[in-house]
Order: sequence, then C-alpha cells, then structure tokens
Amino acid sequence: MLNWIEKRTGFISMAQEFLTEDVPGGASYWYVFGSATLFAMMVQIVTGIFLTFFYAPSAATAWESTRAIYLNPYTHFLLAVHYWGASAMIALVFLHLLQVLIFGAYKAPRELQWVVGVILLLVTLVLGLTGYLLPWDMDAYFASQVSLNIVGLAPIAGPVLQHIAQGGGSMGTATINRFFGLHVWLMPAVLVLLVGAHLAIFRHNGSAGPVVDDPRRLKPGRFWPDQFFMDGAFSLIVFIIICFLAFVAPPYLDEKANPTKFFVPYPAWYFLSLFGLLALVPPEIHFGPLVIGTELIATIVGPTIFLIVILLIPWIDRSRTRSFGARSGLLWSTAIVIGAIIALTAYGQITTMIKQAAAPASPPESAVLAAPAAAAEAAPAAGASGASPASAVTGPGASTFAANCATCHGAQGQGSPGAFPPLADNPVVTGDPTKVIGIVLNGLHEPVTVNGQSYNGQMPPWKGTLTNKEIADVITYIRGSLGNNKASAVTEAQVAGYKP
Ligand code: HEC
Repeated sequence: MLNWIEKRTGFISMAQEFLTEDVPGGASYWYVFGSATLFAMMVQIVTGIFLTFFYAPSAATAWESTRAIYLNPYTHFLLAVHYWGASAMIALVFLHLLQVLIFGAYKAPRELQWVVGVILLLVTLVLGLTGYLLPWDMDAYFASQVSLNIVGLAPIAGPVLQHIAQGGGSMGTATINRFFGLHVWLMPAVLVLLVGAHLAIFRHNGSAGPVVDDPRRLKPGRFWPDQFFMDGAFSLIVFIIICFLAFVAPPYLDEKANPTKFFVPYPAWYFLSLFGLLALVPPEIHFGPLVIGTELIATIVGPTIFLIVILLIPWIDRSRTRSFGARSGLLWSTAIVIGAIIALTAYGQITTMIKQAAAPASPPESAVLAAPAAAAEAAPAAGASGASPASAVTGPGASTFAANCATCHGAQGQGSPGAFPPLADNPVVTGDPTKVIGIVLNGLHEPVTVNGQSYNGQMPPWKGTLTNKEIADVITYIRGSLGNNKASAVTEAQVAGYKP
C-alpha cells in the first residue's frame, strides 16, 4: 500500500527525507519554540476558519454575531481557543526569537532567515491588532481607534493610510470590512508564504545547533525521532494550556461599540508596553525655542528605529563565533531591552487600570449578553404607550429595579420564558426574605424551577454594585409590588446582617 502510494506520488520518500534532517549536537528542548509557533498558527487557522462560519462583518452584525457566538457554548469555546491561541502564538514567536538571539543562530549564513522571522513577528502582531477590532464591542472600538490614530500620525502618508485602513473619515462597516479582509485573507496568506520561505531557508542551511566554537566536533543527531517527539510533546502541552485557559478564562464581550460613550480602551497584552511608553513620555519636550511633539517619537519613530536595529542584528553582531563571551555586549543589551519592555508593560497596565477605575464601569457580561433581546422588546412598547412601565409604582426600589433588574426580569418582573425567571407571582421571591437577600447579594447559578418552568441561567451578584440600602429597597419592591406579590418589606439592617 505504502509502496503503491510511493510509486505514484513520491510522498513517502519526501516524508522520510524531511524527517531525517540533521540536528547537530542532538535533539534539545531549546529548539521547540519554532515548531510550537507553527503549531499555534495551525490552531489559529483551523479555529479561525470555523469562526468565519458564524461571524458577519458589518457594523450592524459584527457585535450581534459575536454575541451569538458567545451564547452558544461550542462556538464560545471555539472563540476562546482562538483568543488564547493568538496569545500563545505571539508569546511563542517572542520566545523563538529570543532563543535564536541568545544562541546567535542568526549569524551567516542565516541572516535572511532572521529577517524573514522578524517580519513574521510583525505579521503576527498585525493579525492580533486586526482581530482585536472584529467583536466590535466598546473595547474593540476604542482600542482600534487608538491604533488607527497612531497610523494617522505617521509623516506624509499617515493621514492617507489611516483613511484607507478606516475606509473613510470615521470608523464603521468599512473599517470592519478592511480589518476582516486583512485578518482572514491578506495577513494569513502572507504569513503562510513567509513561513514557507522561513522553513525552506532553514532546510537549506540546516539547523544551527548549540553554541560551540567548533561545530565539527558535535555528535550528529537526527530530527526523527528525538527532536520530533520533543517538538510534539511541547506543542501538546501548549495546546492543553490553550484549551485550559479557553475553558476557565474565556474572553469578555463588552457592550456594542458606541462612539458617543466615554470608554478607556484596554490593549492586548502584547501592546501594553507601547501604551506604557505613550503614557510615560510628556506630551512635548522643549529645547529652548524648539518644541518637539513626543507622541510621534513614542509611537512611530522610536518603534521603527527599534525594528530596524532588530532586523540588522546579524550585521551589527560582527563577532566571529557564537560563544556568549564574544557577544556579551549584545546579550546585555537584550537583557536591558527585555527589562525595559516588562517595566513599560507594567506601567501601561497600571495607568490603564487607574484610568478605568475612574471611568464608568462596564456592565457584567451576563447583562451584556442578555440586554439586546430585552431592549428590543422594551423599546417599541415604551414608544407606543409613551409611559414608562414602572411608573405605576414609584419609590426608591422601583427605580433600582428599572435600572438594574428589568433588562433580564422584565419591566413588570414577568421574566422571559426559558431564560430569566419571573419575579412576579414567584413563591421564592415572596417566601423566606433571607434567601432572597442571599440570591441578590451573591447571585445565583443553579437550576431553579418557577411555576413548573425550569431555568438555569446566571444571575449576577449585586454585592458591591448596589448599596445595602438599594438592595433592601429593590427586594422590598419585588416582594411587595410585582404582580400579586404582597410580602413583607426588607430592611437595610437585614441586608447588612445577612449570613448564609
Ligand atoms: C443578567 C440578567 C439578570 C439581571 C440583570 C438580574 N437577574 Fe435576577 N436572575 C437572573 C437569572 C438568569 C436568574 C435565574 C438563575 C438560575 O437559574 O440559577 C435570576 C434569579 C433571580 C432570583 C431568584 C428567582 C428564583 O425563583 O429562585 C431573584 C430573587 C432575582 N433574580 C432578583 C434579581 C434582582 C432584584 C435583580 C436586580 C438587582 C436581578 N435579579 C437582576 C438574571 C438576572
């Protein structure tokens, strides 16, 4: 059978030749980052293709289709794997680059392999950047606005480039389409072609092996089976970590992009250091009469110079051997740069968190995911009657209810079949007050049955979001004013003294 295939295709000998590649000095776990990056790329391609089955790129559908992806547990997991896969891929490209840098594996004849590798890092970052916009929620919108504005800062071509990437003077459907096209076609195509070139050059030169002065004395090694299994084992571990994170920490969907609202954007972690740099520099520097705008330096000039230096490392490092001693200057600079990047990342994180704490908080995700259906139902009703449904009963509890609970439980506490239990004519609500206090304080996530209908949703906790007084008032309201509910009031002291 194998013979039959081999005679007609030559695939078997091709595979054999591929697997018997030389690994000077033998297999090592130091070499696993490149193949793991390749593996992460494949995870991204597969999950990405399936996500396009569910995602609809336009201002009217991007967020809505993302929300639908979140609401189905399978597509939600798929998205979460794609999200963590992106982080894994970027982290692995960084580690791969760092390993090559430390081992001096970029030296002749591998200069072009290094250059292609650095371009691959850039392409990966562009993929991260363009993917960030696609959910079209508040964070996606405002973070992408920051990057588009940075593009616009570039000298001469900046404004034109921004106009092209944005698809007009402001962000909208055209922007989503541009980013979508870049994210699912152009950048992946470039990525795959460059990875092909990267690997072809790699095969042409062979692997660089460990850092020794005389490579001829190295014991010969082969890719198959040792290196193959090390690569495979590491990729498997990476995959397990991605799936684990996707399971326990899926990404968060914020409210739909709304340019009229104030929002503090949060960048992806790999751009935090640039955010930190931008936050660190003063807006302008004065040299006597000369005023220099630092924004341009921090966002474009600085990173461009940095990139050029990285690209030129094979020519900057002129040492004849790859030994660490001969390259101590380069290794020290690398350590300092990495330290600086980590410090800037921490600074970017802290400044963003401080700004976020001062801004209005985003709603809990369960409310975001539940909101549009309720809003769509409520809007025409309010428009038709002209009166707010809650106006029949007033009081502090009524307004707290209308503002916080009505989106899910309905304006009259009627609930929504299958999704949110009714609070009107619900014996749990009018029953033991302590139990109701517990549910509202701490949320609820277990199957409940109300009047024969079962529910198993996510009731958000309100401790911290609402004051004890507001919680007492809203419970008094739901127990005494919804439907035929006529149960006793709850006091602030009861809420404060709640014990499970
Ligand atoms: C994001 C949607 C959402 C919001 C907002 C919300 N709830 Fe709920 N609530 C739920 C869901 C879902 C359940 C059912 C939980 C379950 O099945 O485990 C629930 C259950 C309850 C229950 C228990 C009902 C029972 O029969 O056990 C009470 C009481 C309640 N909510 C009160 C409130 C109050 C008061 C507010 C406002 C402060 C509020 N809810 C806001 C989604 C919401």
